[in-house]
Amino acid sequence: MKTILMGLAVIFLAGCSQQQNINSNAALEAKVASLEKTVDDLKPGLGEIMGVIQQHHAKLYYAGTKSNWPLAGYELDEIQESLDDAMKFYPEFKDVKVPLTQLIPTMTKASVAQVRTAIEQKKEKSFVQAFGALSGSCSNCHEAANAMIFRNLAGTSDRNINDER
Ligand code: HEC
Repeated sequence: MKTILMGLAVIFLAGCSQQQNINSNAALEAKVASLEKTVDDLKPGLGEIMGVIQQHHAKLYYAGTKSNWPLAGYELDEIQESLDDAMKFYPEFKDVKVPLTQLIPTMTKASVAQVRTAIEQKKEKSFVQAFGALSGSCSNCHEAANAMIFRNLAGTSDRNINDER
C-alpha cells in the first residue's frame, strides 16, 4: 500500500512539473512575441533611414566639391552604413519583388566604389562624375522599388539634390 501511494505521489509530481514546463514555455513564447513587436515598433522606417541618407548625400556633394576629402570620406561611410541598416531592418520591403539585400548592392556597389576612388585620389572632377553615378543609383533603385515619387530626388547637381521634380 505504501509503495502504491509513493508511486502515485511520484506520478502526480511528475505531472505537475510537466504542466509547469508547458506553462513556462507558453509564457516565454508570449514574452518573445511581445519583444518582437516592440523591436518592430522601435526600428526606424525605411523612409526615415532614407531621409538620413539624403542628408549625408547632400553633405557628400558639398564636401567633395570643396575638396574636403576627409569629410567626403566620412559622409560616404555614413551613406554605406545607412544602406546597411536598410538591408538589416528591411531585407524585404512591402511589395518590392527583389529583396533589398540584393537590390541595394546591385544598384549601389559600383557607384559607391567609384566615389570612394575619387575621394582617395582627391580628384574633384572624377568626384563630380562619380557623385552623379551614385545619384543615378539612388534614382534607379527608387524606380525599381516602386518609390517613383522619389525618382529624381537624388539629383546629379547641387541644384536638384533635394528637388523632387
Ligand atoms: C532599395 C533601393 C534604394 C536605394 C539604393 C536608395 N533608396 Fe532611397 N528609397 C527607397 C525606397 C523603397 C523609398 C521609399 C520608402 C518608403 O516608402 O517608406 C526611398 C525613399 C527615399 C527618400 C524619401 C524619404 C522621405 O520620407 O522623404 C529619400 C530622400 C531617398 N530615398 C534618398 C536616397 C538617396 C540619396 C539614395 C542614394 C544615396 C537612396 N535613397 C538610395 C529605396 C532606395
